[in-house]
Amino acid sequence: MRKLLLLLIVSIFASASNAQSPVAMTLNTADAKLIISRDIYGHFSEHLGRCIYDGFWVDPALNVPKKDRIRMDIVEALKKIKVPNLRWPGGCFADEYHWRDGIGPRDQRPKMVNTNWGGVVEDNSFGTHEFMDLCALLGAEPYIAGNVGSGTVEEMAKWVEYFNFDGISPMANLRKQNGRAEPWKVSFWGVGNESWGCGGNMTAAYYADLYKRYATYARDYPGSPLKKIASGASDWNTAWTETLMKNIPVNQMWGVSLHYYTLPTGNWGKKGSATNFNEAEYFKTMKNCLAIDEVVKRHSEVMDKYDPKKRVALVVDEWGVWTDVEPGTNPGFLYQQNSMRDALIAGSTLNIFNKHCERVKLASLAQTINVLQALILTEKEKMLLTPTYHVFDMYKVHHDAKLIPLQFSSPDYASGDQKIPAINASASVDANGLVHISLVNLDPSRKITVNTSVAGMKWAGVKGQIVTSAKFNDYNSFTDPNKITLKGFNGARKKGDQLTVELPALSVVMLELK
Ligand code: AHR
Repeated sequence: MRKLLLLLIVSIFASASNAQSPVAMTLNTADAKLIISRDIYGHFSEHLGRCIYDGFWVDPALNVPKKDRIRMDIVEALKKIKVPNLRWPGGCFADEYHWRDGIGPRDQRPKMVNTNWGGVVEDNSFGTHEFMDLCALLGAEPYIAGNVGSGTVEEMAKWVEYFNFDGISPMANLRKQNGRAEPWKVSFWGVGNESWGCGGNMTAAYYADLYKRYATYARDYPGSPLKKIASGASDWNTAWTETLMKNIPVNQMWGVSLHYYTLPTGNWGKKGSATNFNEAEYFKTMKNCLAIDEVVKRHSEVMDKYDPKKRVALVVDEWGVWTDVEPGTNPGFLYQQNSMRDALIAGSTLNIFNKHCERVKLASLAQTINVLQALILTEKEKMLLTPTYHVFDMYKVHHDAKLIPLQFSSPDYASGDQKIPAINASASVDANGLVHISLVNLDPSRKITVNTSVAGMKWAGVKGQIVTSAKFNDYNSFTDPNKITLKGFNGARKKGDQLTVELPALSVVMLELK
């Protein structure tokens, strides 16, 4: 009996020390001024592994619904999350892509080797028209990455003319000959990709000059002004951003890009498994993920020096977690699973982008299908929606809504002698006056109570959705595709003017107040 009592007392103490005092958060809708561009919620589809081929674009014999060879179950899933834009054809591939190889009768298109990704044969069956058909089916804006590394100024100029000129010209005529009368009016236009690396190994100053030359001839045709995006830095390389900002007048570019990948172990050699990791590695991954906040801040500060009015966008057109490939898969295909950890990375990163929406106006998760932090995985006819997909589904309510600044101080989530904020959040008010709050709890063992005082609006109640799982390395497999999915959340209540939320461990929650 005494033993039992002792056990009871010990367990009460243990759970008390595990308890977290509530977080006080404040939000005032009167402070909502800046728009969160829906383009922050964009995606990326490169000719890499099974993203385009055997992803979006499938073998005619595959027994799935198709339009031409575009896989329609994928299109339907992506329409649901309102993909605002899609970046194509790369990545590194873009700087070796010659667009004229991908137009005209398919059986006459040349085959090439994809030197960047696995050395496989690229048959060019998916080219400009096929990509634009895909964007039309998705209702997404195309974001084209033009070839600076191995392409000419003329080649890029002519691609723009092919896309956008509505009149009589060699490229407009060729487009018509290939079955498309109207110009497509493409607007987002990348001038090269990773020009410091796979896009040509250039110096920033040399690239800045090249940018101006290529951008000059990438014309704004009547009714089709381009939003030109300079090939920017990766990670902490603010020197690259500084050289671009110093050398390219702000009226000659719409944006400067930035790439940031979360590496679980923090190094490019052994990056860490997508599903087989312990808490120490989980912690490290989340720490590396949250660092994007500081990375964006540092690049923004450099941009502020040259562009205090924030006319040039910071375009984070590659982000996400990059792990080791799944065992037994082609190392050049970058196929990785997607776990609860990925959902937390997606929710946290999107909260951070929302916060920086005055500068960050477009972002692209890498990559949509079967590559890196994918939304969708496929295996022949089967497809599954990853935990990351469900986060994008929940977060679509932030598209084009006004950011409501939040004040709160997060409790720590500690591991060894290190700590990171356990929670992060973002709030917005949409055109109908609905307030949405996205909350992420990274702590794997503590639920956290958040008490939010809501000012500036009348609201009658709250409803919510959640993505959560018991373990950070749980994932959806082809045998258990719905292990992690979007569920109703009833852990939020209105108490007077206060919103009280019991945020479960390892969760991404979206609340709607009305
Ligand atoms: O997304 C995979 C690759 O990562 C892209 O091709 C390249 O731009 C980056 O290094």
